[in-house]
Amino acid sequence: MADKRIGILTSGGDCAGLNAVVRAAVHRARLTYGWKIFGIEDGTVGVLERPLRFQELDVNTFDGRLLREGGTFLGTTNKGNPFAYPMPDGTLKDRSMEIVDGFRMLKLDALIVIGGDGSQAIVRKICQQGDIKIVGIPKTIDNDVGATEFSVGFQSAVNVATEALDRLQPTAASHQRVMVVEVMGRDAGHIALNSGIAGGADAILIPEIPVDLQLVADHIKAIRRGGRNFSLVVVAESVTDKEGNAFKQALSGGEMRYGGVGAYVGAKLSEMTGAETRVTVLGHVQRGGSPTPLDRVIATAFGVHAVDLIAQEKFDRMVVWRNREVQDVFIEDAIKEYGAVDVDGPLVRAGRGVGVCFGDQPVKWLS
Ligand code: F6P
Repeated sequence: MADKRIGILTSGGDCAGLNAVVRAAVHRARLTYGWKIFGIEDGTVGVLERPLRFQELDVNTFDGRLLREGGTFLGTTNKGNPFAYPMPDGTLKDRSMEIVDGFRMLKLDALIVIGGDGSQAIVRKICQQGDIKIVGIPKTIDNDVGATEFSVGFQSAVNVATEALDRLQPTAASHQRVMVVEVMGRDAGHIALNSGIAGGADAILIPEIPVDLQLVADHIKAIRRGGRNFSLVVVAESVTDKEGNAFKQALSGGEMRYGGVGAYVGAKLSEMTGAETRVTVLGHVQRGGSPTPLDRVIATAFGVHAVDLIAQEKFDRMVVWRNREVQDVFIEDAIKEYGAVDVDGPLVRAGRGVGVCFGDQPVKWLS
């Protein structure tokens, strides 16, 4: 196998398991193929800046801790679309060819892009301009890349949210409160649905199911009539209010981010039920911490398979997790397939089966 030079970068919001992916790719590239592998810093920013920012990676880069650590030691960014890059004078500039030049300066034979659907689409477009070969690895706590059952980071985020519910349940019971937990997930309700089921939530509010809070309030009151004086409510950050508006707050740089729906839901439920309500916003806690064993396993299988695809000269493909194993599909197909929660699927049915209120229909309860 001829010598190759491989680039690898993490792009978009970080999550637990990214270091495990890089570790796996580096081990495969070095041990099996003897190729050189370069970690590009801060996503595409490392090849946009001059001098370039990158590190040559080797098996000895990994001292045993990185497999277990959250974040990405390469750094990442989820701001500044290279096709409309915000300049200091307030204008937007297409800087994509500067990134292509950066990749060329590194003399890469192929690039591994670890990112969600947005990052994959952007980096793919840049690389097409420069005829740079890529392989994609899906990561996002939101788990909204439809082509894969699991993206790296999702299981770990669900773990954090479930542990939060485990911790909130006893204090909710002690104080007879309604505990509202706001979780991330952008436009998809996977974190809310999975953690809500795992953590025994009484109501799970997700963006895929329009919510009538009166139904949630009625359910909480029915539970109280049945003798249980507390409830747990999980709300995904992009659930809409009655008028269909998501709650957003502007961050610096003018970029919009979700946030604030938990406080709204908590206040409304308190008003409607008379119950004392407390709100916990998990926020970026869901992105940190040690990856779960499944995330580490998937990350390792993805990293190895991505390098194997390069060895087989199978480019423009994304590794995916399907039917308990790693497979690969065209990136174009993978990013077309948005992975929202299936509202008629087995998990929503499981939730309904154990008396979870999704805010769309009355729930039968026994008192
Ligand atoms: O896409 C991952 C994610 O964590 C979303 O769940 C969340 O809405 C968003 O990123 C937060 O972005 P930021 O880190 O820029 O606040």
